[in-house]
Amino acid sequence: MEMQKDFFIYQAQTTKFAAGFEVEKAEGSYIFGTDGRKYLDFVAGVSANTLGHSHPKVVQAIKEQADRYLHVMVYGEYAQEKPVALCRLLAEATPPPLEVTYLVNSGAEAIDGSLKLAKRYTGREEIVSFKNSYHGNTHGALSVSGNETHKREFRPLLPMVNFIEFNNENDLDKITDKTAGVIMETIQGAAGFLVPDDGYVKKLKKRCEDMGALLILDEIQPGFGRTGKLFSFEHFEIVPDILVMGKGMGGGVPVGAFMSSKKIMEALSHSPKLGHITTFGGNPLIAAASHATLKEVLESGLMDQVEEKENLFRELLVHPKIRNINGKGLMLAVNLGSPEYTLDVAGQCMEKGLVVFWQLYRNEYLRISPPLTISKYEIRQGCQIILDVLNKN
Ligand SMILES: Cc1ncc(COP(=O)(O)O)c(C=O)c1O
Repeated sequence: MEMQKDFFIYQAQTTKFAAGFEVEKAEGSYIFGTDGRKYLDFVAGVSANTLGHSHPKVVQAIKEQADRYLHVMVYGEYAQEKPVALCRLLAEATPPPLEVTYLVNSGAEAIDGSLKLAKRYTGREEIVSFKNSYHGNTHGALSVSGNETHKREFRPLLPMVNFIEFNNENDLDKITDKTAGVIMETIQGAAGFLVPDDGYVKKLKKRCEDMGALLILDEIQPGFGRTGKLFSFEHFEIVPDILVMGKGMGGGVPVGAFMSSKKIMEALSHSPKLGHITTFGGNPLIAAASHATLKEVLESGLMDQVEEKENLFRELLVHPKIRNINGKGLMLAVNLGSPEYTLDVAGQCMEKGLVVFWQLYRNEYLRISPPLTISKYEIRQGCQIILDVLNKN
């Protein structure tokens, strides 16, 4: 356990309770530990490994790009094959007016970029966000995240951010002609995979239109096929003005992006020019991985299997200790009643060779967000482990 020892000594920690699990390698639906055991992965790097671990097409794309060149220039100056191909494929795969993509390094940076874009385009200062939302941990993303415990010690944050209640139509009148943008996770993640009502999303979109505010949808978790559509807003028959993505977009490499119409996005290129700049955004190695991931998600038929796999999870995970299951597709949150019990169950699952996690704000919910490539056999195996643990105590 030399590596784990050094991890705790030299690597900055985010909590006092990191597992410090020692990873040897990962492939498909499995992570292999240095203990010689393999662990079935129901978490997929917290929705990041869309195609499982080290998908051959993603690895091949990275290798080919690495053989050609790595970094040549900061974002936005040179035309490079993989970033261009990625932006083009995204434009082709999403409905109008989503046309152009700004590539960045992480989800949080993409959120910051989208907020800047909404303010710059509308010339307004106010942002409306949602209680219990999670948008990341830069100062900008934290400012629009709706959990006071995580924010309190880092104030002052961005001013003029107002929070409304998710799925509450009465709150929509707090979106006014002073609002630059309304930022919403299409499916609230940290809050326990809460899916909004169909009618609510349409009314939200209409209110934004009426007030001239831009609707920014954070699809960093549900995007890239996790709910059976490329982006989950497609379930609600609306299109956002700005679409934010990350996590699963990279197929296992760090990435983020925000999309909009050409007209809106242009606001970042003048007055002042360089309205958002980044050295490594659009990095060709990352873009190669992301392009390969998107192509595979679109061409493999994996999205068509999501509903059937969700149904299988719901069919198998029936137990007196399971109170309810939130979520959609392959982002499911299983309510086990208390944070302590959920943590205990997650620990015991790990001992039995299954990786599960919990939801950031709602620790009583067990997180299930496996790779889209997970097989039905693997789903059965993993669910049996959960049921065995629940039966035991
Ligand atoms: C909905 C949502 N938005 C934003 C982020 C931030 O992304 P990143 O961790 O890549 O900065 C996350 C990450 O968990 C997320 O789940």
